[in-house]
Amino acid sequence: MASARRSSRKPGIKAKPPVPAESLEALGRYAIRYVKPGQTIGLGTGHAATAFIRALAEVMLGVRGVPTSNASAELATALGIPLVELSEVDRLDLDFDGADEVDPKLNMIKGWGGAMVREKVVAAASRRRIFLVGEEKLVRRLGKRGRLPIEIVPFALPYATQEIARRGLKPRPRATDSGQLFVTDNGNYIVDCAVKEIANPRRLERDLLAIPGVVGTGLFLGIADLVLVAARDGSVKTLRRRPAKA
Ligand code: A5P
Repeated sequence: MASARRSSRKPGIKAKPPVPAESLEALGRYAIRYVKPGQTIGLGTGHAATAFIRALAEVMLGVRGVPTSNASAELATALGIPLVELSEVDRLDLDFDGADEVDPKLNMIKGWGGAMVREKVVAAASRRRIFLVGEEKLVRRLGKRGRLPIEIVPFALPYATQEIARRGLKPRPRATDSGQLFVTDNGNYIVDCAVKEIANPRRLERDLLAIPGVVGTGLFLGIADLVLVAARDGSVKTLRRRPAKA
């Protein structure tokens, strides 16, 4: 399996520096207050999700986890957190994950770590969705940090990549450090699109999902209920999604 964590930060991305590891660890511990004993919990992928999984293992609370990647499954297993398959549960109580960008309406871009398809499925199957980010992930408009991942079935890679480019994006197949195409846990490829601020994320999502062979995008629109934001000093700010106007 290609490691989600290894590829989660790439050079050349315009970005504020990430908050220190201690701030993410504090964030992971802070998030535990939302967990009740016996719940079934989505386990996200990436640095912030890892901090949460580690904090969860310290308190345990008799929960079961549904992992969003092989990497998170391995970590949770190593820490003694019992896992269940998504097919074994009706709904999850809560999902905890990280994100790569969060806008003021709590719309997000995810998938720099390559796990966004499973992450979106687990989020959709959860009653409440909580995302953990460092403050460098907050943006005025999605696209600001310059990268939107799209997952594509291998057969469709050349065609879908051309179609994505025809829609004005600049797609580049993701490679591992050794120069191989990055393969997701679903056996697919990812193209990372160089983007600027996205004027209409909903329309872009609809247009991209209409391309045959595209499995999913990193756009997470209207999914987050709560975003917990870690500052450099270790403090945590809570952002809540406002209910949509009738
Ligand atoms: C994995 O595919 C991603 O969606 C991650 O959840 C997201 O990239 C955030 O990861 P970090 O917490 O490592 O920045």
